[in-house]
Amino acid sequence: MKVLFLFGPNLGALGRRDPATYGRESLEEIMAGVEERARGLGHEAAWKQSDAEADLVAALLGAAGERFGAVVLNPGALSHYSHAVRDAVEACGLPVLEVHLSNIYAREEFRRHSVVSPAARAVIAGLGAGGYHLALEALAWITPDDESG
Ligand code: DQA
Repeated sequence: MKVLFLFGPNLGALGRRDPATYGRESLEEIMAGVEERARGLGHEAAWKQSDAEADLVAALLGAAGERFGAVVLNPGALSHYSHAVRDAVEACGLPVLEVHLSNIYAREEFRRHSVVSPAARAVIAGLGAGGYHLALEALAWITPDDESG
């Protein structure tokens, strides 16, 4: 399956940005490992990062047309207020797994709620980059048929 990994604002600064919370690996380093695991599982991973909400919406809405079978999404801070990203998750017609590096429920009040989660097929938080690997493994339990009802 082709799997699209999508990353929102500030996730391009991983490695430099608050390493105590988000780790020391850059997004490129994280995704090199994820791409390798994807190959091992018989999947093909592609990824995009953007600081702009509109780019994330466009990528979500275009994913099915580009023959992706699932999306792994870390919307960054947009998780907490972007109804546009949430609507795009709903509209994209694919299973979307929302992943957060940190445990958002153990952090500041404004991070404890994701407006995107109700539209996501599953949510993983607090495992660092391991969450992206887990999302790949989880695809075995998530089929596109799940989205038909
Ligand atoms: C994050 C959590 C968000 O609150 C924050 O704005 C991020 C990263 C995470 O992966 O833990 O940018 O989504």
